[in-house]
This record gives sequence, C-alpha cells and structure tokens, in this order.
Amino acid sequence: MLFPDYRPRRLRQNESFRRMIRETILTVNDLILPLFAIGGKGVKKPVPSMPGQFQQSIDNIVKSVKKAESLGIPAVMLFGIPDKKDPLATRAYAKDGIVQKATKAIKDKVPDVVVITDVCLCQYTDHGHCGVVDGNVIDNDASLDLIAKTALSHAKAGADMVAPSDMMDGRVAEIRQTLDENDFSNVPVMSYAAKYCSAYYGPFRQAAESTPQFGDRRTYQMDPANAVEAIREVSMDVEEGADIIMVKPALPYLDIICRIRDEIDLPVAAYNVSGEYAMIKAAEQKGWIDGTKVMMETLTSIKRAGADMILTYFAMEAAEELKQ
Ligand code: PBG
Ligand code: ZN
Repeated sequence: MLFPDYRPRRLRQNESFRRMIRETILTVNDLILPLFAIGGKGVKKPVPSMPGQFQQSIDNIVKSVKKAESLGIPAVMLFGIPDKKDPLATRAYAKDGIVQKATKAIKDKVPDVVVITDVCLCQYTDHGHCGVVDGNVIDNDASLDLIAKTALSHAKAGADMVAPSDMMDGRVAEIRQTLDENDFSNVPVMSYAAKYCSAYYGPFRQAAESTPQFGDRRTYQMDPANAVEAIREVSMDVEEGADIIMVKPALPYLDIICRIRDEIDLPVAAYNVSGEYAMIKAAEQKGWIDGTKVMMETLTSIKRAGADMILTYFAMEAAEELKQ
C-alpha cells in the first residue's frame, strides 16, 4: 500500500469516518476510583499534591461512592489512614479498622458498587514499610500471615475483592488459602503483580501518610529497568491464584501492560498512579496543557496498551466527560 494508491487521510476526513475506524473506546466500565478513608465525621481534607482528591471520613466516603455510582463507575478501591500505627500494623487487620468500617458502610448504603480493598501494611506500620521488619530488614515470611489476616478481615467486613499491594513473595497464595479456608472462596484477588519501585508514588504517600521512615522499597518493589522480570512476577501470581493482575504505574510502563496482555490470559488492570495524576493537574493549573484532553488521551492510551480496567483518580472526571 503506497502513496498515491493508498491515502490514509481518506479515512480521517470527518468525525463519522474517524468513529468507524476507531480501535479503542474508553468507557465508564473501565474505571475504578481510589478513595482515602480516615476517622472522624464530616472530614474532607484536601491532599495538597493531588488537587481534587481528599482524605475523607466514612460519611463523606459513602457520598463519594454514591456519586461514583450515579456516574456509572462500577468499582472503588479503598485505602485507609488509621488512628494509630505500630510495628505489627495491628490496625490493618482490626475488626474496627478504618477500611473494615468504611467497607461495611459502603456495602450497607451503596451495595451495587464493587468495593476493592487495598491490602498492605505500610499505612499501619510505624516504620512505613509494606511488611514487618527485623532491625532494618523486611521479614518477608513473617509479613505473609499479617497480610493474609488483613485480607480476611476485609472480606469479613464485606469487601468484594482484595488487592494486595505489598509485593512480598508468596502473598497471593497465602491470601487465597486463608480466604478459602474461611468460606470466602468467592472473593477474587486482584494482585498488584508487577509493581515498580516508582517515584510516581510520591503524592500518594502524602495522601495515605505511608512514607517509609527509613530506607526505601527497592528490596520488594520492582526495578523500573526490568521487563522480563515482570513476566516472572505476574506468572507467579497467576500460579498462586490471582484473578486479576495489575501493572503499576501505568503511563511510564505501557510496554509492560502490552507484554502482559499478550502473554497472560487473565484480566489486566493498570494503576494510573498519583504522580501521573499530579503532573497533569499541575500542568493544567499552570495553563500549559488542556488537562481534560490530556486526561482522556492518557486513559485511552492505557486501554490501547492492553489494560482491561484502569485505577485512576480521574475516574469521576473522566466519567463526566464520557457522558458528553
Ligand atoms: C502501598 C501503595 C502505594 C500505592 C498504592 N499502594 C505506594 C507505595 O508503594 O508506596 C501507590 C498509589 C499511587 O501512587 O497512586 N502499598
Ligand atoms: Zn504498602
């Protein structure tokens, strides 16, 4: 097909032609909204590095979920900011923990929205790491039991799906087994399977108050330079019983999303993380880009790369935009 016999522009000449040959259609069904739950009443505290995002008490979380439902968003992802932190993250798996209470409230008031709970210890440990520590070393195997306990307590509170984000080895198998033994064989695991050690998580750590107090997360999260390793990580989680696998972050890792989509026959989720959100918001505020257009282009690109669903702080805004 060579010019002048073939002219690609023929099929771009008007919006009707463009609609006919459009390959990727973003819909509201693709979107999952992350939310930050905190104690108290009537709390809606802005996250400075994430304009439009808030730490919210449960009453306001329920309002946000209602609004998400009215826009057609099928699911939310819950993060909790606990009242107390300690070395063993005991508030992560407490029956009256913040995520457990928020989950119950949502399932009570807005039962049709899928509640996914982030399962990790970093918001709940006083040192801010995703597992328990022995001196300055993360103790992988000692963390597994606490992570599985956290997932189980979320399921007991009514979570529809649990999403481990800790990146400890073996945690998906441990969670699956614990859920099955306790009559939660119907609760799927969405695994943060290829989670990179990314500076794009900066704003999130302000929102979730989960910055590590010493060291960094490089001994458990993946090296941004590695792609083949992502296939090993994801394959492992598939073998261990994951139902959905996630790549995180999204935009700087579109090649990973694409490869995983090709190699793995499970639904693929991508997490359009806090730093990706913050960059667009900041440039928009400066008047340097059209934020809405960049948002839609970004989300469409993540879907085009192969994501079946996208966790994004833009979920509400994108859903509004898609209605028009
Ligand atoms: C913690 C966790 C992080 C995110 C989700 N769960 C950050 C981290 O690993 O420090 C990042 C989300 C975002 O940046 O939007 N397990
Ligand atoms: Zn963590």
